[in-house]
Amino acid sequence: MFPTERPRRLRRTAALRQLVAETSLAPDDLVAPLFVAEGRDEPVPIPSLAGQFQHTVESLVAEVRTLRELGVGGVILFGVPSTKDEVGSGAYDPDGIVQVALRAVRDEIGDDLVVMADLCLDEYTSHGHCGLVRTDGTVDNDATLPLYARTAVEQARAGAAVVAPSGMMDGQVGAIRRALDDEGFTETVVLAYAAKYASGLYGPFRDAVDVSIADGGDRRGYQQDSRNRREALREARADVAEGADIVMVKPAMTYLDVLSDLRRELDVPLCAYHVSGEYAMVKAAAANGWIDGTAVALEQLTAVRRAGADFVLTYFAGEIARVLQR
Ligand code: PBG
Repeated sequence: MFPTERPRRLRRTAALRQLVAETSLAPDDLVAPLFVAEGRDEPVPIPSLAGQFQHTVESLVAEVRTLRELGVGGVILFGVPSTKDEVGSGAYDPDGIVQVALRAVRDEIGDDLVVMADLCLDEYTSHGHCGLVRTDGTVDNDATLPLYARTAVEQARAGAAVVAPSGMMDGQVGAIRRALDDEGFTETVVLAYAAKYASGLYGPFRDAVDVSIADGGDRRGYQQDSRNRREALREARADVAEGADIVMVKPAMTYLDVLSDLRRELDVPLCAYHVSGEYAMVKAAAANGWIDGTAVALEQLTAVRRAGADFVLTYFAGEIARVLQR
């Protein structure tokens, strides 16, 4: 008997495959995370993130210009302050490094690509936690919220089109939305890191921003448990109810089921963060000649889109935008 089903018919030529492709990946589906360091004269390469830098404000602006020319959809800025303190004041200082960088980038780029600011305290606190820490070492959720609100307002004032709270405090989206509206920033978009898991994949990022958590601590008290799937929906629904315009799942590859669930259940735009460890694994294997790094990056980013993300935050943004343009 010959087969009656012949799905291979549609795979015969590149043109046929292109015509029936269910998922697309374009430069404007990508958002580049970028690091900007205070008090530096030169950009410094980040060893664990091949091809990524701690930028000066000047080299950051140049990088954003290049990404815009490549058609990349957006950038998200992370600050590396020269000093840290208990209360993370560098995050909400009007002259903090991210605010300075936002003003420089917006002056140059305007609204040509979407300029986002990660909103958290961990890069700015001496203890490395995402919120204020009590004397017993635990993170004080409610005392942290006013500081997030202040940070959001300063970021918006400095030119962030999107603020992206990543600290996983309960009520953070509501506190930020209210503060932005009170200060007249009603058009500033809130992108919520809604389902952010306590992951082993953030290691290279913590090198990149010089963060180590005090006393060998971790973030399991506020970031999600990787064993939980339903809980992500609860987190995301709460964020949408509090005013989140866009919702994120993070990391990406190990949580595609979560992304797929959220796609089915929510009608807001969704994104995923292909995080530092995911990037570093591909880069390391490719550097050893064990995999084709570009092919694997394309496959992974496409998988994130297929699972339901409208866009992807990825350190591959520039590199893959170049490949997609060819
Ligand atoms: C917290 C934050 C982290 C990342 C983005 N925002 C680190 C953490 O939660 O420890 C990680 C991103 C990455 O690994 O690429 N401000």
